[in-house]
Amino acid sequence: MSTRVALIGAGGHGLSHRRVLQRLSDAGLVEVAGLCDRQPVEPHPDAPLPGVPFFTDHLTLLSAARPEVVIICTPPHTHLAIALDVFAAGADLLLEKPPVMSLAEHTTLAEAVAATGRICQVGFQALGSAALAELCVAAPDGDIGVTGAWWRPDTYYRRAPWAGRRTVDGRPVLDGALVNPFAHALMQALVAAGARVPGFQPVEIELERYRTRDIETDDTTFLRLTGTGGRRITAAVTLASPVFIAGEIRVGDAVLEYPTDRLRLPGEPEFKHVPGRVGLLENLLEHRRDPAVPLLAPLERTAGFTAVVEAIVAAPPPAEIGPRWREPHPDGGGSVIAGIDALVREMADTGRLPSESGVPWSRPGVRVPIDGLAEVR
Ligand SMILES: NC(=O)c1ccc[n+]([C@@H]2O[C@H](COP(=O)([O-])OP(=O)(O)OC[C@H]3O[C@@H](n4cnc5c(N)ncnc54)[C@H](O)[C@@H]3O)[C@@H](O)[C@H]2O)c1
Repeated sequence: MSTRVALIGAGGHGLSHRRVLQRLSDAGLVEVAGLCDRQPVEPHPDAPLPGVPFFTDHLTLLSAARPEVVIICTPPHTHLAIALDVFAAGADLLLEKPPVMSLAEHTTLAEAVAATGRICQVGFQALGSAALAELCVAAPDGDIGVTGAWWRPDTYYRRAPWAGRRTVDGRPVLDGALVNPFAHALMQALVAAGARVPGFQPVEIELERYRTRDIETDDTTFLRLTGTGGRRITAAVTLASPVFIAGEIRVGDAVLEYPTDRLRLPGEPEFKHVPGRVGLLENLLEHRRDPAVPLLAPLERTAGFTAVVEAIVAAPPPAEIGPRWREPHPDGGGSVIAGIDALVREMADTGRLPSESGVPWSRPGVRVPIDGLAEVR
């Protein structure tokens, strides 16, 4: 029998969920119970979802469409309140990342999951990667480095009311490089660390946040995280690079190019593509049918990620990398930092931060202890 699934936040990234819903609906696995968005949403040729009722208010959707599973794909600062309404309506949940903005919110959500007996999967789709699973089985030793160098034009920060913002309506939202676009890299690095150090949790972070444009958050971020057993993760990511690095997680001598599922284990000369990504909605539906099938991204697996998000939210605002260190991107859409691709690689490989490496635009970082994880479910 097909499961009744609804989507709240059908615009924006919600289109990718509409595509999945169209595919699973065509396969007879789901019945799309309803779509909801505050704004009008045009049907897309890939996901027309004909005849599906549309609501502008999620409470009306929950009471009128009676979904069994709900996907929430609204801006991060709205997640918690809508998620609690979903559980109160008796539905299971696929909640987009970042799930919540603080450990207190995480605890509130975890308590609602426990009290209602509902399921909560978080939208870290990279956790469905077979390449990550293979890396975790191999569990190489050594420090972890996370690198990514993308280019996002200035218009990226006009894409949505919460883009580049630190708070919206008085609530943290933090559209920072590591919390949003590179969130999957951080989450996968935490999981990879836990493959060798069971129960791995962040203990403290050292952080340098930078921005190349007039935004409240960082577009270039360096983070050195020390966790249980002293294992370190150094993440160096930027959205202001003229040269593209898709995103790499290096664990000792192993490297996972996480957006493409290309993996090179220690001793292997070449990257190989490891096929077989499991979709998070499919996994949630499977888990509902057979609880012996583990959830790939249950809420509790994301507590360490949220602890890091909370620490970044608490850190001072990013420092500007001034115009003398920037140059125009050839497409005219903003500016880039010359040589930033080499720098993010170097920082991730050496575990150093720019302020420790004589980088002329760098400023001293901050050290933030990660508190409160022990009390979190
Ligand atoms: N998993 C991923 O790879 C991935 C990629 C992109 C975005 N995301 C996440 O998806 C979520 C949405 O991001 P986005 O870029 O689409 O944002 P967006 O602002 O572009 O779109 C969000 C949509 O939600 C709607 N909305 C806002 N508040 C609502 C409410 N209360 N009820 C119903 N609809 C509401 C908006 O009208 C908009 O159409 C965020 O949590 C983001 O981090 C995840």
